[in-house]
Amino acid sequence: MPEAPDTEPILLTPGPVSLTPDIVAAMSRPLPFHRGGEFHALHRGLVDGLARLFEAPATHQVLVLSGSGTMANEAMLSSTLGPQDHALVLVNGQFAERLVEILRCHGVPHRTLAVPFGQAFDLDAVERAVAAPDVTAVVMVAMETGLGLLNPVRDVGRLCRAARRLFFVDAVSALGAERLSVGADGIDFCSSVGNKGLGGPPGASFVCADRDALRSRRPAAPRSWYLDLHRYADWARVSETPTTPPIPVLLGLEAALRATLAEGVERRRARFRGLTAIAIEAAARLGAAPLVSPSREASRAAAVTTLIPPPSLDAGDVVRHARAHGFILHEVRVGDRSAFQVAVMGAVREEHLRRLAQRLDDLAPHAPPTAGTPPPSSASAAGTPRSRS
Ligand SMILES: Cc1ncc(COP(=O)(O)O)c(C=O)c1O
Repeated sequence: MPEAPDTEPILLTPGPVSLTPDIVAAMSRPLPFHRGGEFHALHRGLVDGLARLFEAPATHQVLVLSGSGTMANEAMLSSTLGPQDHALVLVNGQFAERLVEILRCHGVPHRTLAVPFGQAFDLDAVERAVAAPDVTAVVMVAMETGLGLLNPVRDVGRLCRAARRLFFVDAVSALGAERLSVGADGIDFCSSVGNKGLGGPPGASFVCADRDALRSRRPAAPRSWYLDLHRYADWARVSETPTTPPIPVLLGLEAALRATLAEGVERRRARFRGLTAIAIEAAARLGAAPLVSPSREASRAAAVTTLIPPPSLDAGDVVRHARAHGFILHEVRVGDRSAFQVAVMGAVREEHLRRLAQRLDDLAPHAPPTAGTPPPSSASAAGTPRSRS
């Protein structure tokens, strides 16, 4: 008998993620008015909890924004950098490229230190680039999510401190899933969201900002209304946001944050590592290998793995087969190759990964056909292995 898919597919995607029943219940609570005491308490709780998760010293403050991670990145860069600056962006993945586009949109002078996607930065080269006299700010991504690649935030932070450069980090997928400490890493501005490492719903994002750096970089006139971080900081003084926030999302975020802090990032990371190992083993039986090899321990994300299938197996077929059995995986391009991702940041348990592993075994060379799996009659048949030799 084919195993029936779960009524709700399990999201093994790097955001959005499957939500725990607690988070779903929190989102269904009656909505507080966003200009009243109940909302003020919610806002204060989020700011305090996020500051703990960011490991923010008292010099920093957390601003809760209404929008996705890209909004947080655009708000932190465009509200603090201007034509008088020169930003150095470290690029080894697609999200760093997006940061470059944001700087270009806002007319911020910049240059890149780029290495091929997935490769580690040469820290000597980074040190030289950071020290260039015209550079005022350094911008990088903590985890290149599409690649499952971790970047050396702490090392770059040390270089920025030595050269007295402002340091911006996109930690959209790293917060709650990886070691990150705004204080110890010397970060001035750090962005993230609730719907990845925290396991919460999408729709809210945050920036953890050095108060003095933020204040000193307020332009004479705002460069945007909605993306103006300074406006958020003004309203945060009364525990409010400038516009109507996504209140159900914030209620879900509160529950996700509570669970993340109770578990602790170290334990969470170890749990993610264990779940990821099951996926990597199953992928190996298909001949698929992680893009960031296990030997590059420090560069390997705990919760997101990008797997490159052998030429005989199409990543799209893996994704369709998993979908037919109740698991959503993400197909990504890595250069001219197609790959699939397994991400374990949400309400994902070991039994889910074991079940996914069984389904992936259906696609292994010489696997007997599974009852209920449609025959490979057409290239577009959902759940059907294609181009397998
Ligand atoms: C590292 C990183 N930065 C930025 C983003 C953009 O976030 P959003 O889709 O929430 O705008 C993502 C999304 O996956 C990401 O992983």
